[in-house]
Amino acid sequence: MADEPLVLGIETSCDETGVGIVHGTTLLADAVASSVNDHARFGGVVPEIASRAHLEAMIPTIQRALDTAGVKATDLDGIAVTAGPGLAGALLVGVSAAKAYAWALDKPLYGVNHLASHICVDQLEHGRLPEPTMALLVSGGHSSLLLSSDITTDVRPLGATIDDAAGEAFDKVARVLGLGFPGGPVVDRTARDGDPKAIAFPRGLSNANDPAYDFSFSGLKTAVARWVEAKRRAGEEVPIADVSASFQEAVTDVLTRKAVRACKDNGVDHLMIGGGVAANSRLREMAQQRCDKAGIVLRVPRPGLCTDNGAMVAALGSEMVRRDRAPSAFDLSADSSLPVTEVSVPHGDLHAHAHRALKP
Ligand code: KG4
Ligand code: ZN
Repeated sequence: MADEPLVLGIETSCDETGVGIVHGTTLLADAVASSVNDHARFGGVVPEIASRAHLEAMIPTIQRALDTAGVKATDLDGIAVTAGPGLAGALLVGVSAAKAYAWALDKPLYGVNHLASHICVDQLEHGRLPEPTMALLVSGGHSSLLLSSDITTDVRPLGATIDDAAGEAFDKVARVLGLGFPGGPVVDRTARDGDPKAIAFPRGLSNANDPAYDFSFSGLKTAVARWVEAKRRAGEEVPIADVSASFQEAVTDVLTRKAVRACKDNGVDHLMIGGGVAANSRLREMAQQRCDKAGIVLRVPRPGLCTDNGAMVAALGSEMVRRDRAPSAFDLSADSSLPVTEVSVPHGDLHAHAHRALKP
């Protein structure tokens, strides 16, 4: 363990300023400053507010992480940062901070992919990832099935949502039900008192001819809104717990069925679930039951590591150092639409990214 890398990771892709410090696969600190309350009254994340909040929180959060870990910045073996995907202005704050620290401390800089970080964080909880690993990533911005044979170089997308992300559907349904923002945790809690079989909401892209690994949650969201609207128009009380439970059941049914199918089709016997929606209690329960039945080992990090945090970026950075992967150049740029296949942003890639950004 002594020669395992000590890496600080910075995450600012959305509304969480996360700074984590990892030694090998051991988590030493996970400091988070969230601006979620500043966005609540708008019903969604406001990019400009998020960027300003990152700027204010950045240095104190880095200091807090170093203090908690009990390490000096000069002891670090590298600085990792989310280079994308995410909100452009928000990412830029993290990338600029990471560059400044790496430059001043003379440490290697690793610009890494947010989605690969969501997968790699599980190493902090369950040890090194088996190769290959299937990953179901479900958050406010993403719903994807990814197959990885090496988390530092190879993440292959098998399927993704064609419209709303799973977390987005939770947030929108919560708004329809008047439950507040973010919707996932409150729908999860409310659903505990409801009947998941009360209302048969649609399961998107589940017919035989539909793409096996893609998702669609927009029709489900609309179906819930219509159902609630009809009740209200009829002057009847909306059974909020039943609607929450039945909606949640439809989402988790599709997610877990497709994830298990992807494992079976590709001969993969390890499934990890990450992203904010992986905190969902019913998703965890149903995934466990279906994986047990299919002989698949399920790995889900604890809820605090599933939502956006700096530890996940540090976890991937640490793995990059351990495997001797090339650091990023100091012309590293934030890329709001960084493809999932680009696990890290290597040397001198500025022109490739600028070029892609110019494409329509
Ligand atoms: O990964 P994350 O923190 O940020 C993104 O990258 O999007 O995910 C946030 C999303 C939100 O949509 C939130 O409603 C959802 O994760 N979420 C949940 C739960 N906790 C958070 N969804 C369902 N059940 C939960 N318990
Ligand atoms: Zn995320």
